[in-house]
Amino acid sequence: MKKKVLVLFGGVSSEHDVSLNSACSVIKNIPSEKYDVIKMGITKDGRCYIYNGSPDMLPEGKWLEDKENLEPAVISCDRSHHGIIRLANSAEIERVDVAFPVLHGKNGEDGTMQGLFEISGIPYVGCGTAASAICMDKAVTNAMADFSGIAQAKWTAFDKHAYLGNKTALLSDAAEKLGFPIFVKPANAGSSVGISKAKNLEELEAACEKAFGHDKKVVLEEGIIGMEVEVAVMGNEEPIASVVGEVVPCNEFYDYDAKYLANESELHIPARLSDEMLKAVQAEAVRAYRALGCEGFTRVDFFVCNDGTIKLNEPNTIPGFTSISMYPKLFAASGIPYPELLDKLLTLAMER
Ligand SMILES: Nc1ncnc2c1ncn2[C@@H]1O[C@H](COP(=O)(O)OP(=O)(O)O)[C@@H](O)[C@H]1O
Ligand SMILES: [Mg+2]
Repeated sequence: MKKKVLVLFGGVSSEHDVSLNSACSVIKNIPSEKYDVIKMGITKDGRCYIYNGSPDMLPEGKWLEDKENLEPAVISCDRSHHGIIRLANSAEIERVDVAFPVLHGKNGEDGTMQGLFEISGIPYVGCGTAASAICMDKAVTNAMADFSGIAQAKWTAFDKHAYLGNKTALLSDAAEKLGFPIFVKPANAGSSVGISKAKNLEELEAACEKAFGHDKKVVLEEGIIGMEVEVAVMGNEEPIASVVGEVVPCNEFYDYDAKYLANESELHIPARLSDEMLKAVQAEAVRAYRALGCEGFTRVDFFVCNDGTIKLNEPNTIPGFTSISMYPKLFAASGIPYPELLDKLLTLAMER
């Protein structure tokens, strides 16, 4: 019997468009001999539809113009339904076996959608509610990493209230503790949205104002000089690490433009490191994955410094997932082709 997969895409986060591209690839590569796919789109303002058209209509939001193929529907929180309710046909209930939230950022990757699946009783791909929430918030991630003895940049964090009350002291304390350059990030964002690199106090203030435009909490980090590497990790109790990939951003850092627009950032798979270092990075990726309570899958990103130290950059609990994204590429290079990878992730979700 084929399993029924609910693939979610879009969403209210600043990474809506990234999700459309990821989901298009995911839907096309889920092995059709094993799974039937139901596509559920979430608009930028949070409306939900089942979409019956082609996955090629997802990128650039074309699916929303294809009105004939849109059906209002919701995920049922009644566990006996174990699925969705199609609202058009006098509330028709449809059972699903597993869900894959191909959503990034707010209300997709931050534990809230995972919470809805927990309530609904539907198994879902990826990290649970707590790990998703921990990994979404860069201040909480950093605190957990410190607690677990995982090396990372020196850092500090504050919210808007503290900032407005005591701006001058907070900024000069941060500058003294971290030294310039300082990376300033909204605690909850993604795809480098709202991130800047500040080289002096004046830029630091501007960087904070910018980051506060995206979140009420900001994280400041010492600028690390090192190679940016990424590891795809997969599994529940016995996670495995892929080969290590290296990113060479085409801009001063790996900003939104370098990630998605310029298309000129270099990737090296495997990363240009010794076998010994590659093994050490893989081991650290699995250690961070466990320490943060990850399950299913997560891409764990690090810096490797010239002196050989490995520092956590960040976990991505729902990494970019187009066929040319790092996560699937890393497992493809590790001998697991994309359709097989999707089958494994769906199986891990149902096993949990
Ligand atoms: N502490 C740091 N030192 C050096 N570069 C950094 C630091 N933090 C972030 N960066 C740069 O900014 C990019 C985006 O930061 P990251 O924390 O990964 O945010 P996002 O979740 O938006 O991807 C990184 O890929 C890296 O190029
Ligand atoms: Mg990142």
